[in-house]
Amino acid sequence: MRFFLDSANVAEIREAWEGGLIAGVTTNPSLVAGEGKDFHGLLKVIAGIVDGPISAEVLATTAESMIVEARVLARISPNIVVKLPVTAEGLKAARTLATENPQVATNVTLVFTPMQALLAARAGADYVSPFVGRLDDIGQDGLKLVDDICRIFALHDLSCRVIAASIRHPVHALKAALLGAHFATVPFAVLRQLLKHPLTDAGVERFLADWNKSGLPR
Ligand code: G3P
Repeated sequence: MRFFLDSANVAEIREAWEGGLIAGVTTNPSLVAGEGKDFHGLLKVIAGIVDGPISAEVLATTAESMIVEARVLARISPNIVVKLPVTAEGLKAARTLATENPQVATNVTLVFTPMQALLAARAGADYVSPFVGRLDDIGQDGLKLVDDICRIFALHDLSCRVIAASIRHPVHALKAALLGAHFATVPFAVLRQLLKHPLTDAGVERFLADWNKSGLPR
């Protein structure tokens, strides 16, 4: 499993990328709105930092207008992955793009059932994004969804990649990795939690203190 940063914040993206923590970025309209910056301009800045997939979501709601938007987004950078909702229109757009513009990768998002994921993969999506946390929020098992999708894709030899999304804490990421998700997209705070352990910090401090006490040169 590889990590994407689920963020539209340039400082976070730069830190995560330069720190070697992520393979790419996912954004969504809420995250972009939170930054209050011009969408396409922001994507250009992100593409200047990150040499990996950058998911950018369409705002259109009809297949025809999604395709137009997707083509505009894809022109911003070859790393742009167009995010489409798992609606009838979204899958129609995914199918058209897979057929007519196969160089434009798609990430079908807002996936809450295994069959939505299977339909998205069959429509030609390159990635699907099951939302773990939002299912947990309504008393369902978000990780079971990731498990089901990974097993179905493996059983039927589908090349569509699974991005465990709506990851809220390190255990979500751990379990997604154990279940075979290809990617997890995580907020910056969770990414930091994944790296941190108090015994690691204490260990670094103790090694240094012992060395310094010994009088050995550095
Ligand atoms: O980017 C999609 C997804 O990761 C959103 O997560 O926390 O808003 O449910 P969340």
